[in-house]
Amino acid sequence: MKRLCVVVLIAAFLRLPGAAAADVIIDHDGDADDLIAISLLVRSPTVRIRAIAVCPGNSYLDAATRATQLFLERLGARDIPIAQGHSEGTNPFPAQWRTDAGHILDIPALASASTAQPSNPVVAVDAPHYLVKTLSGGQVYTILETGPLTNIAGALRLDPSIRQHIARIYVMGGAVRTGGNVQQKGHDGSAEWNFFNQPQAAADVILSGIPITLVALDATNRTPLTQAFLDRLGKQTAIASQLAVQAWRPQVAQVGNDKYYFWDTLTAAALLEPGVVRTERLKIRVITKGASQGRTVEDPRGTPVDVALDAGRGRVENLFLTLLGK
Ligand code: RIB
Ligand code: CA
Repeated sequence: MKRLCVVVLIAAFLRLPGAAAADVIIDHDGDADDLIAISLLVRSPTVRIRAIAVCPGNSYLDAATRATQLFLERLGARDIPIAQGHSEGTNPFPAQWRTDAGHILDIPALASASTAQPSNPVVAVDAPHYLVKTLSGGQVYTILETGPLTNIAGALRLDPSIRQHIARIYVMGGAVRTGGNVQQKGHDGSAEWNFFNQPQAAADVILSGIPITLVALDATNRTPLTQAFLDRLGKQTAIASQLAVQAWRPQVAQVGNDKYYFWDTLTAAALLEPGVVRTERLKIRVITKGASQGRTVEDPRGTPVDVALDAGRGRVENLFLTLLGK
């Protein structure tokens, strides 16, 4: 018995086949990159997705929810509860981006999927309440956050004790030693969109004391989505590859070559294989008001966070080709 326990522990540590899988909750905002991040976790043998929360963000809530169900349906994932959050944040994403994100519902690879009788139902309670319910049991979860932090911040407000049941949160957000990607009137451009959408939610989550890996623009800027990668992915016939190529191509066409990055997908990769990013523990504070709102700054009085500052592009691409090729 003692020997069996040792074997299980070593297997879990090395993530060998048969190792205990981590229980994961995903919280996202329905962009193509979010949905492909979900695909990566669905195909990973090392995680079990226990719940998915959706928030309004780079997509509208209903389109994001429907796309989640259709992706899961086509990937053959079943019985994952989906919860909707309704906070729009104080700085909603541009309306045109949100409308464009909804076109993911029209990609051919989703044509045969139906949500008439969804295998992954939308629960009756809202996302913050559902997160509290899920995080109040005896289990510990890892969370992947790829949109604004409104759902998890709402859950922490409802019941701060849930933090005991969160092993770590992998967050796509922030821009620490680089410029932001917000270009809005009255803003100085120093913030990243997920944090800008609701700066107070981002600040609350950073301040919660939960272990956080922050996959900031510093790291995602190192992993542009290239035509060469899309061509390689497009040659793979697996449904996860086809979903990803068809979802990504129109986005790249819109923003231009090498200007679309692995944002949410890099964050999923960091959760699956932490070595794909180089992190440093930095003390971080989120500015919540004024022209820099949403900005993540280093501050000696800030909260220690593991910030991803760099990423290994080749390793990330290979991981994606492997998982999406299944
Ligand atoms: O700033 C990039 C982030 O904004 C990504 O999460 C993308 O999906 C959008 O939500
Ligand atoms: Ca996102």
